[in-house]
Amino acid sequence: MLLPASVLIGLLCLGNAGGAWAFARLLDNAELRSAFSVSRTSSMEGGPKMTVTFDTVYVNIGGDFDAKAGLFRCRIPGAYYFSFTVGKFPHKDLSVMLMKNRNEVQAIVYEENAARGAFFLCPTDQSVMLQLEFGDTVWLRLHGDPRYALYSNTDTSAFSVGRTQSILGVSQVGVLQHRPISFDTAFVNIGEDFNVTQGVFTCRVPGAYYFSFNVGKLPQKTLSVKLMKNRLEVQAMIYDDSQGEKALQSQSLMLALKPGDTVWLYSHQRDGFGAYSNHAKYITFTGFLVYPDIPPSTEPTVGKIELLLRGRGDVHI
Ligand SMILES: *[C@@H]1O[C@H](CO)[C@@H](O)[C@H](O)[C@H]1NC(C)=O
Repeated sequence: MLLPASVLIGLLCLGNAGGAWAFARLLDNAELRSAFSVSRTSSMEGGPKMTVTFDTVYVNIGGDFDAKAGLFRCRIPGAYYFSFTVGKFPHKDLSVMLMKNRNEVQAIVYEENAARGAFFLCPTDQSVMLQLEFGDTVWLRLHGDPRYALYSNTDTSAFSVGRTQSILGVSQVGVLQHRPISFDTAFVNIGEDFNVTQGVFTCRVPGAYYFSFNVGKLPQKTLSVKLMKNRLEVQAMIYDDSQGEKALQSQSLMLALKPGDTVWLYSHQRDGFGAYSNHAKYITFTGFLVYPDIPPSTEPTVGKIELLLRGRGDVHI
């Protein structure tokens, strides 16, 4: 996924302690180090709370950055390097400033909506060196007007799971119908959107997903495995009633999903049906997000103009 996250990086380049001896001591002494790298994985709209906060901390040596408050507080006086990257929200203006203390602007990233097209999503970055004294704070400020927003969406989702046991269909009354195929091995489960024991993928990030599944054929049994969406919407199917020996069958497709949509596999639960697997995992199920949906504009200016034109057209007819 190539969509931008908002990232802020800061590090102490040279402490103010003075003299070569002090500098050597600085490099030796863990307490005299300061560096952080944080990111924000969700978008933010301009509002009364203008401080950009962060949800992911990669590095916070010295503990000088408070991610929840979005604030770096200088503990060791010296020269610091700061760098930040922000994405522009579709149909919005971008204005993010690197601030020192309450209201000293140090660097700015600014981009008008019209400048490079409404859908421009590429991140813009800025970096600066600052001389800081003990107690100085550094933070990012998003313009407080809702016309402004920053875009950040690095959420992704991917799973690949396997099952080491065959499935045998049994006609039984009182057994829950349409139970998903469950799995016992998770190769990958990024975002934890796939419940392995339950066998169900639940969409968290809306977008276009790719799914594929493999199943083995049991001799003397009919293979009938369906890829299901939500309750009982069949999306794709593998069917094989040949009398042949073991064979591996596979199927794949792409689906557009909304948050809360579920995707799962169903093997026909009646006598005479089944699917083969063993420790080599003939039964596997894989899915991943290919393209996340671009968030819609909260200010549909284009839509309004279209409506107006259509209204006029009606009058002429
Ligand atoms: C998976 O689903 C089962 C059954 O619904 C549930 O008990 C379990 O908590 C779920 N696991 C996770 C990790 O959500």
